[in-house]
Formats: sequence, structure tokens, C-alpha cells
Amino acid sequence: MPDKKLQAMVQTIDLTKRFGKFTAVNNLNLSINKGEIFGFLGANGAGKTTAIRMLCGLLKPTSGKAIVADCDIMTESECLKQRIGYMSQRFALYEDLTVRENVLFYSGIYQVKQEQALATAETMLTEMGIDLKDKALTKSLPLGYKQRLALTCSLLHNPQLLFLDEPTSGVDPQARRAFWNVINKLADAGKTVIVTTHFMDEAEYCHRVLVMQNGETIALGRPGELKTQNKVDNMQQLFLKLVS
Ligand SMILES: Nc1ncnc2c1ncn2[C@@H]1O[C@H](COP(=O)(O)OP(=O)(O)OP(=O)(O)O)[C@@H](O)[C@H]1O
Ligand SMILES: [Mg+2]
Repeated sequence: MPDKKLQAMVQTIDLTKRFGKFTAVNNLNLSINKGEIFGFLGANGAGKTTAIRMLCGLLKPTSGKAIVADCDIMTESECLKQRIGYMSQRFALYEDLTVRENVLFYSGIYQVKQEQALATAETMLTEMGIDLKDKALTKSLPLGYKQRLALTCSLLHNPQLLFLDEPTSGVDPQARRAFWNVINKLADAGKTVIVTTHFMDEAEYCHRVLVMQNGETIALGRPGELKTQNKVDNMQQLFLKLVS
């Protein structure tokens, strides 16, 4: 059983998920510290989303254990939900609602008072260049803005730990940079951020990364130390070397 008393925000022991005979995540052993920006890397189908969905309490592991934000993912999923924010890989907002209506919808999901949610959202959205009172429907926003709104909605209940599954997929470089500025600010404010990405420039911004292949962990460490160990100059080269 993982030790709840450790200062880890996430701790897993042999966490495994099988779909029938297919193993999507095999024996994941991981400890993520408070305040870390932690990246999950891996090719399509490597098991990143499956691992994250287990850590969020959305998918039952086949075997193994995990303590996330001091909650046992198997038995304490209700307390877990209150302590984490999750931005799913697929677009999570309601396209036919306005920005404000999406915020109100998520305030209901996270059981946050509407006035409080609107105040939190207004501060965050204004910083990110989005007008909370805009009457336009969410579907008319550029993808980079939709992703910032989705991030805001996942933070309304002030979670300590945030899971972002490919938050910048399809987003232009400038908007990706803006999104990472927000991630850095959240980590500076003490939040733990777990993020998946296929962009190796973003992998460089993570404090530590885990590289997955066919459900297995093939590397885990700081970008700098992994590059030195593997005698490569950047994360792109590291990734190609490891997965080839
Ligand atoms: N519900 C499911 N039933 C059966 N197989 C599944 C299910 N969910 C995921 N898989 C399989 O598990 C493997 C890992 O999928 P997962 O979505 O975790 O990968 P990923 O690393 O997030 O990939 P991507 O980069 O494309 O998002 C894939 O082969 C996928 O087809
Ligand atoms: Mg995925």
C-alpha cells in the first residue's frame, strides 16, 4: 500500500490497466511531488490517457494501487474529485453555450457557488484575454481560447492537482506559449500539474517527464538528466532515440 504520509501528490505501485487481454498500462510506479510540472510523453496509444484516467478515479485499475492528493483512487473517488481538476483530451466544453454559461455549468459540476465561480473565472479569463461577458457561443472561439476556457473551468474549485491531457493539441505556437505561461504560474502558486503532450519543446518545460511505450515506462527523470544520460541535445532527439 502506498504511504499516505509521504509528501507526494501522486504515488502509484504497480498500477496496471488491461482491456481484455490487451495491457494498456503495465506496472506503473511513480511518485510526483507537490508543485511539480510532470509530463507524460509517448506515441499515440502508449497509455498516457489511460494512466491519467486511472489517477483521476475515472477508470478502475485492473491491479495495483495509487494515492492521489491523499485519496485512495479505489475507495475515495468522491474526495479525489474535489481535490483535482481534469481537462480531458477531447474538447470538454459545451460548444452551444457562451463563455459565462460554460463557467456556470462547471460551477454546478464542482459544487462551487455561482458568484464565486464567476469571480474566479473573470480574473483568470481577463488575464488570458477572454471576455467573460462575451455573448458569442464557445464554438466561435479560436481553439487556443477554448483551451484556456477549459483550463479555467477545471480550476473553479481551486484544486491542488491538475491533470491536463494534451491541452495544446492543435493550438498555434503563440497560444501554446501563452498556455504554458499559465501552467508555470499555477506551479509557482504551489499547484501540481500533470500534463501530456506530443510537443517536445513543451517536454523541456516539465520538471520531470515519464516516457511510455506500449504501456511500459521506458524513461523517467528530469529533461536535463535524461538528455545527458542518452547523449542527446534536445527532447525531440531523446524521444526518437528512446521509442525507435
Ligand atoms: N476503453 C478501451 N477499450 C479497449 N482499449 C482501449 C480502451 N481505451 C484505450 N484503449 C487502448 O489502450 C491503448 C492506450 O490508449 P491511450 O488512449 O491511453 O493512449 P495515449 O497514450 O493517450 O494515446 P494518444 O497520444 O493517441 O492520446 C490504445 O491501444 C487504446 O486503443
Ligand atoms: Mg491520449
